Amino acid sequence: MKIRLSFRLNGNPIELETDAERRVVDLLREDFGFTGTKEACGSGECGACTILVEGESRLACLMRVGQLEGRSVLTIEGLSDGKHLHPVQQAFVEAGAVQCGFCTPGLILGTIDLLRRNPRPDREEIREGLSGNLCRCTGFQKIVDAVEKVVSSPAEGSDPCPVG
Ligand code: FES
Ligand code: FES
Repeated sequence: MKIRLSFRLNGNPIELETDAERRVVDLLREDFGFTGTKEACGSGECGACTILVEGESRLACLMRVGQLEGRSVLTIEGLSDGKHLHPVQQAFVEAGAVQCGFCTPGLILGTIDLLRRNPRPDREEIREGLSGNLCRCTGFQKIVDAVEKVVSSPAEGSDPCPVG
């Protein structure tokens, strides 16, 4: 069944007609070329497809496009301002928290959601908060280091938790 869909994507208003049964991960990758939204398990277990919807992390492999109606979506492509990386992205780079990079977009967006809920998590809370995001390169130590870095030296002047 076709539906008309209106939502915001990385700050831009979108209107389109599409199949109501499509998954959000497919819409983002196929229609918009936003391949930073990764699909790994396709069943809600790995977090690779994490996006922010109204600032909260959601799994794009489990969402149908109709669930986006009227809402704001942020993907990794919309996170930096075009000149500077978001502080969480920068911290991942500086901490060496990126290996193959496949899990990284989901982990960065998951981190932003974690910091929205708990701006000063300790290491245990960081691990717990990101436990739904799996890294096959197993770089968890440096990922936690990166998040700790953001918490200990928050960047001035940037929105730590953008909605999209
Ligand atoms: S691809 Fe969506 S949770 Fe794994
Ligand atoms: S960096 Fe390779 S899966 Fe996480």
